[in-house]
Amino acid sequence: MNTDILSKEEKIALELRSLYNEKGFKQYRMSKFEEYDLYAKKKDFLVSDNIITFTDTNGRLMALRPDVTLSIVRSTRDSDGISKLYYHENVYRPGDDCFREIPQVGVEVIGSIGYSEIAEVIALACKSLAVLSEEYILELSDEMLYKSLSDFDFADKLRYSKGDGENTKYYNDLVFKGYIPGVPDYVLSGGRYDGLMREMGRSSAAMGFAVYLDKIGNFDVSGDDGYLNVALPKGRLGESVYSLFATAGYECPELMEKSRKLIFENAEKKVRYFWVKPSDVAIYVERGAADIGVCGKDILLEYEPAVYELLDLNIGKCRMAVAAPVPFKDDTNRTLRVATKFSNIARKYYASLGRDIDIIHLNGSIEIAPILGLSDVIVDIVETGTTLRENNLEVKEEIVDISARLISNRTSYKFKKEQIDRLVRVMEKQ
Ligand code: PRP
Repeated sequence: MNTDILSKEEKIALELRSLYNEKGFKQYRMSKFEEYDLYAKKKDFLVSDNIITFTDTNGRLMALRPDVTLSIVRSTRDSDGISKLYYHENVYRPGDDCFREIPQVGVEVIGSIGYSEIAEVIALACKSLAVLSEEYILELSDEMLYKSLSDFDFADKLRYSKGDGENTKYYNDLVFKGYIPGVPDYVLSGGRYDGLMREMGRSSAAMGFAVYLDKIGNFDVSGDDGYLNVALPKGRLGESVYSLFATAGYECPELMEKSRKLIFENAEKKVRYFWVKPSDVAIYVERGAADIGVCGKDILLEYEPAVYELLDLNIGKCRMAVAAPVPFKDDTNRTLRVATKFSNIARKYYASLGRDIDIIHLNGSIEIAPILGLSDVIVDIVETGTTLRENNLEVKEEIVDISARLISNRTSYKFKKEQIDRLVRVMEKQ
C-alpha cells in the first residue's frame, strides 16, 4: 500500500491506533448519532452546550455526537476488572463561527484504577505525543503523582502545573495536557473523570485522554528557529514597550528607524519583533504567530484569548468607564442603550448589575454616539479624560483599571520557559 496518499492526520491516527492496539486496548466503534437525552442531562461535562440536533425517522430527538467519552461510559458495565478501550472518531462542536467536525483519537480506562493503571495511561499519553513530535511536554495537575513518576522513562518530559482551571467539571483530581512545539495550544488532554461516572450512576473509576488531530494539521511541527517572536502594539504604547524589551537585553535598533517595515530581527539576540495593531496582539499570541506580546488588559477582558498573562507592565494606564453627557440621569425603567467597542466587557458589567441593555457596537470615536442620540451612554477607555471633557461628557461609573500586560502563547511558554521567565524577571525590576 502506498502510504504517501495519506494526509498527515491520517498517518498519525494510524500510528496511534497501532500503538494502542499493541498495548492491549480494544477499539470501540460507535454511531455518529446519540439520543439527545444523553447530553441534555450532562451539559456540565461538555465543552459547549451547543449541540447539533435532529429528529429521527421514529420521532426521537437525536444529536450529532459532541463527545465520545459519554457514549463509551454508557456502554460499559461496572466490574472488578478493567476495560481498556481506544477510539478514532469525529465529534461535532461549535467553533468560532460555525460547527466543526473534529477528529479525535483517544483511550479510556474504566474499572478499578490504581497507581499502575495511572502510570500506564500517563506513559501512553507520552508515547502518543512522541508520535507527533520528538520534543513534547506533558503537564500533570497532581504534584504527588508528578513526584512519584520521577524515575519514569519519560520523566524529563513531565511538568507539574496546577492548570488553568479548564475542564475541571469533566476531569477531577488529575488533569493532564500535552504540548508539542509549533502548535499553539495543547494537542492532548486527559484526566480522571470519576465525577462523571458517579453522575451517570456508575461505581467504577475512569480515566482517559484524547489527541486532537485537528490542531496539528495546519502547523509545522518540524521545529523552531530558536528566536523569541514578539508582537508589539503599534502606536502610542509601542515605543515604551519596545524600550522595556531593549533594556531587558533584547535590543533591535533598526526598529526605531523611520520606515514602513513591520518585521525586524536581531540575529545575535535571537529576537524577532512584529508591529501589529494593538487590538490584534492577543490574536497573534493566541495562535502562536508570536511567542509573547504586549497588549492592554481591555483587550484581554474583551476577547478572553487563551494566553498566559505574565506581567502587569504598569504602563498605558487608563480606566474602562461608563460615560455620558453631563446632564444624563439613568432611568432604570428603560432599556439602556450602550455604545461601545467593548461589547463583551459592557455586557458582563451590566449583567452583574442586572441592568437591561441594548449594545450598539462601534469601532471608534465612541464619544459621538450619545451626542447624536445614538446611545444613552458609552463604555470606553478614559486615559486623560480630555476627549470626554471636550465633548461635554463625564465618567458616570468606573468599571475596571486597565494597563499593559505581557502575555505569552501557552505552548511557547512551555518550550521557551527559561527565555521568557528571564525576560519577566528583568522587566519586573524595571
Ligand atoms: C481612546 C478612547 C477614547 C480616548 C480616551 O480612543 O476610545 O476615545 O482614547 O483618551 P483620553 O481620555 O486621554 O482623551 P483612541 O485614541 O484609541 O481612538 P478611537 O476613538 O478610534 O477608539
